[in-house]
Amino acid sequence: MIKISPSVLSCDYGRMADEIKCMEECGADLLHIDVMDGHFVPNITLGAPVCKCIKKYTSLPFDVHLMISEPLKYIEDFCGAGADIICFHTESESDIGETIDKIVENGAKPALAVKPNTAADVVLPFLDRLSMVLVMTVEPGFGGQSFMADQMEKVRKIRSEIRKRGLKTDIEVDGGINGETIGVAAAAGANVFVSGSALFGAPDRKKAMDEFKEKARKAFERGV
Ligand code: DX5
Ligand code: ZN
Repeated sequence: MIKISPSVLSCDYGRMADEIKCMEECGADLLHIDVMDGHFVPNITLGAPVCKCIKKYTSLPFDVHLMISEPLKYIEDFCGAGADIICFHTESESDIGETIDKIVENGAKPALAVKPNTAADVVLPFLDRLSMVLVMTVEPGFGGQSFMADQMEKVRKIRSEIRKRGLKTDIEVDGGINGETIGVAAAAGANVFVSGSALFGAPDRKKAMDEFKEKARKAFERGV
């Protein structure tokens, strides 16, 4: 199933609750929350207390993307703050298996993210335990960067492995997703699309959301 996950990184943080409500009304399926610690990536955003505060203003499931060095330490905090999906990086310092277990124990769905220079093979041993794989299509840290089409080989490889094993794992792409690139990613086998600057910056957000979904649906079917 095609899902759009607007990234709050591009919202007006001073009006966060209104911005989220707007995306919900425009038809978002998830809410992508980028958590950065200034160590794993060269930028700092927000933490669990902010997630907890915004939870009461929306019924969108929280798709929390942890770009932090030690995700294992913070799983309980983010689950307690309302995270529905927790995505952490293979390149972090935490043990991957242990972190997946902790996410499940705390009632959220585990997802594993890979940076552009990390091979698909790193996630394959964990595929059966994951709800989603996140393939980064930019170097993590900042919104508004250009989509890296060379990551589509990785998406194709993971999608083919998911099919081979008969799994229902989602593949999310994050970085540079707009009205053009969404079709490229969907044709390669991605079905969850993070979009920050293109969606929040669209003159008509509802129109952009509808177009994104339509393009993704068609391209995904074509790619199958
Ligand atoms: C980048 C973040 C992305 C970012 C995407 O490190 O993980 O979620 O917000 O922003 P755009 O869509 O502007 O590339
Ligand atoms: Zn993200």
